[in-house]
Amino acid sequence: MESKSFFADSVALNSGYTMPRVGFGTWTLDDDAADECVYHALKVGYRLIDTARYYGNEVGVGRAVRRAIADGIATREEIFVTSKILPSSSPDAAIDASLRSLGLDYVDLMLIHQPGYNDEESYRALARAVKAGKVRSIGISNYYTPREFDRMSRAAQIVPAVVQNENHPYYQGTELQAYVAKFGTVVESWYPLGGRGNTQKIFADETIQRLAAKYSKSPAQIVLRWQFQDGYIAIPGSSNPKHIAENFDIFDFRLTPDEMNQMHGLNRNQRFENW
Ligand SMILES: NC(=O)c1ccc[n+]([C@@H]2O[C@H](COP(=O)([O-])OP(=O)(O)OC[C@H]3O[C@@H](n4cnc5c(N)ncnc54)[C@H](OP(=O)(O)O)[C@@H]3O)[C@@H](O)[C@H]2O)c1
Repeated sequence: MESKSFFADSVALNSGYTMPRVGFGTWTLDDDAADECVYHALKVGYRLIDTARYYGNEVGVGRAVRRAIADGIATREEIFVTSKILPSSSPDAAIDASLRSLGLDYVDLMLIHQPGYNDEESYRALARAVKAGKVRSIGISNYYTPREFDRMSRAAQIVPAVVQNENHPYYQGTELQAYVAKFGTVVESWYPLGGRGNTQKIFADETIQRLAAKYSKSPAQIVLRWQFQDGYIAIPGSSNPKHIAENFDIFDFRLTPDEMNQMHGLNRNQRFENW
């Protein structure tokens, strides 16, 4: 039987902070849409919000977070904001620009968005930002092998708290998850539903359809529940208020061990993106 903490809706990071295990992704939302959707997400219960410098919507995300705090929906301490910087020759400036755009004193988690020129020095900049109190936890995104994980871990004195990678029923990334767990690192899934253009293939999967019918849940909820029970942090994105609420409504049912195995059986090591 799984321990209680395994099913808790937050996870203790190796940085000493706690991170919610279901969050809201904001890729493709512009500032105004991000403002509206993030506020709605916080209102229906999400406490983890994922953005990035690259998305161009940190201003909207920050506006929504500050509005939700002002309206008493949650305190700053209760909201976990993630952003990402691309590796560059001026990572310290990118971190400062992120905080300015968000209008926040600190971000809870800052990731190196993807491998690239100067990523090790950029990661060291994140570690410096932790010391300066600008960032609480740090991690990496789009690093898929133990070797790459080790390379980045060695770059600074802080081991990544989180690795954010593509992860869905057809690409389950279990080997990396097992490897990084030795360092207390948690895997966070982007494209938890397969991403735009791919969700219908996943939602139509016979196994997922069957489980959805059994639990009177949507296919999206079955996928997110599988991710949750397997220890991943999932950050589904949506601009539809109904979907946003639905994706957070996964805490009232539990897939059996046999059903989890059926979900594992869907893995084809098929990624939808190559960055
Ligand atoms: N680190 C990286 O390189 C990276 C890369 C990609 C994404 N990300 C992060 O991961 C987040 C998630 O990825 P994503 O948003 O691209 O893909 P996703 O969450 O897998 O899928 C989003 C798609 O699913 C639809 N959808 C969401 N909930 C649904 C529901 N309950 N029923 C039916 N359809 C539903 C959305 O449409 P509607 O708007 O109509 O709901 C949208 O088309 C991003 O927002 C971003 O924060 C990170």
